[in-house]
Order: sequence, then structure tokens, then C-alpha cells
Amino acid sequence: MKQIVIYKSSTGFTKQYAEWIASELGCKAVDIKAATNLNMADCDCVIYGGWIMGNTIVGLDKIKKANPKKLVVYAVGSSPDGEEVRKAIKTQNHLEQTPFYYMEGGFHFEKLNFFIRLMLKQMKKSVAKKENKTEQDLYMEKVLGTTFDNSDIKYIAPLVQYVKGVSA
Ligand SMILES: Cc1cc2nc3c(=O)[nH]c(=O)nc-3n(C[C@H](O)[C@H](O)[C@H](O)COP(=O)(O)O)c2cc1C
Repeated sequence: MKQIVIYKSSTGFTKQYAEWIASELGCKAVDIKAATNLNMADCDCVIYGGWIMGNTIVGLDKIKKANPKKLVVYAVGSSPDGEEVRKAIKTQNHLEQTPFYYMEGGFHFEKLNFFIRLMLKQMKKSVAKKENKTEQDLYMEKVLGTTFDNSDIKYIAPLVQYVKGVSA
């Protein structure tokens, strides 16, 4: 079975996961900018990985439009892994019928462009001013504007196992 990993990464975490997955499956990892409908049509299984912005998996719409034969999706965000986080991303991106995996990334604050850094600083200030902060607010207050790396190759195991099972 021919597979391809396609990714969209802003600061490198999703790319790193794409390379780990591709190496494990013995296939190519391609940046979405270089991916064409042609190389997707040529593959039995497209594994798409996108970074998360406001719970949206960046780039996923473009991949869905290409209508691959089989699609498996992973998403990389800075939130700690958990049932609620996975469910919120799955629902927002309409992935109820698609195999989906969440992988923890981190924050490379200094690699973000000036405007995004500014926006995150503003967000941090407004969260700090809030009364009765939720758990999510407290988490955002702690991490916004920082740099950290929670990525771990262990997160690829369930996806790799699934894809190998499908292609066996
Ligand atoms: C504007 C913005 C919005 C973000 N929104 C979320 C979010 O909703 N949930 C989350 O878990 N991470 C969120 N993140 C964090 C990124 O998804 C995280 O840094 C990810 O590891 C980036 O992956 P990349 O290095 O492949 O670009 C956000 C980051 C930015 C800059």
C-alpha cells in the first residue's frame, strides 16, 4: 500500500512528527506547499498533519478537497493531551468519520512572526485581567509568550500501528 505523509508546520513541531512517522512507515514526508492532487491520487493512504490554531487544524480543508482514497489525520498543539482536547479538535474539524490522533507539540515563541507574538502578548494580558479564571485561562496565562517543547516520538505509535494494520 502506497502512503504519503503531508504536513503543514509553522514552527517545526508538526514537521518533526511527519518525519518520525514517514521514517517508521518507510514513505515520504512532504510539505503541503509541495503536495499536489496528483501525488495524493497516486496514494492509497494520505496521512495529514497540521498545527492547531484556535482548535482548527491548519491546511486540512485543502487536503479534504483533494478527496484522497483514505485519509488519516494528526494534529499538533501546545495543549496537554486529554480526552476533552481531542474531542474539541475532532468536532471543530468534522473528523467524526476519520481516524484522528493528537500529538503534543509546544511553543516556539521566538519563531512566530511579529504580529502573532503581539497578539499572544495581548491575549496574555487580557487573560491575566479576568476574574474567576477557568483551568484553560490559567494554562494560557502560564504558557503564552513562553518557549517549550513537549513533543515526544511516543505520540506517533497509535497512528503508525493503525496505518500498518490497515495496509497489512
Ligand atoms: C495563534 C495561535 C493559536 C494557537 N491555538 C492553539 C489551540 O487552539 N490549541 C492548541 O493546542 N495549541 C494552539 N497553538 C499552539 C500551536 O498549535 C503549537 O505551538 C504547535 O506546536 C505549533 O506547531 P508547529 O511547530 O508545527 O507550527 C496556537 C498557536 C498560535 C500561534
